[in-house]
Amino acid sequence: MKADTGFIHVFEQGSDPARRPLLLLHGTGGDERDLLGLGRTVAPGASLLSPRGKLLEGAAPRFFRRLAEGVFDEEDLRRRTDELADFVLEARERYGLPAPIALGFSNGANIAAAMLLQRPDVLAGAALLRAMVPFAEPPRADLKGKPVLVLSGALDPIVPASNAERLVRQLGDNGAAVEHRVLPAGHGLGQADLSLLNDWFARW
Ligand code: MLT
Repeated sequence: MKADTGFIHVFEQGSDPARRPLLLLHGTGGDERDLLGLGRTVAPGASLLSPRGKLLEGAAPRFFRRLAEGVFDEEDLRRRTDELADFVLEARERYGLPAPIALGFSNGANIAAAMLLQRPDVLAGAALLRAMVPFAEPPRADLKGKPVLVLSGALDPIVPASNAERLVRQLGDNGAAVEHRVLPAGHGLGQADLSLLNDWFARW
């Protein structure tokens, strides 16, 4: 019997084996069901792997601890990034999957960015929605050619524009093929996000 992967999660087997699986990572207060619909829409036929963040902030699940809004407990983040990366490796073995593309929103996008920088081999790429810089001093990572889409909101009260730009620079400096789009939006997602995601995922 396989060891349990340690995260409450949903796995949906896709119908199209040519499609990369998606790793869906919800925002603060979400759960493993939140992004299933989005995943099915932007990558029809892809397998979906969707864990629930283990940390509770009050009643709200998250993927790592923060000290205040936008101020991260980086020691906790490093440990939980490894834990999530190990979950992905175990799940790949258990379900027979190639490396997934992460699709993360807010807190989920932030841990996906952390995973790219700390465990670059685990993900084939990532779509980061309203992401910010996870580490003050990011580790060097070999992200050569990995596709990354960053969708930011110009009016986002949680992620300053300069922070999102710094993240894009960090990923690009490590070799990722980053596309950054800044939408006339806040922290929430809208139709423009959906169409950019559709276009981007159609390429992988
Ligand atoms: C975070 O804590 O990851 C960011 O502040 C985004 C959020 O979850 O609100």
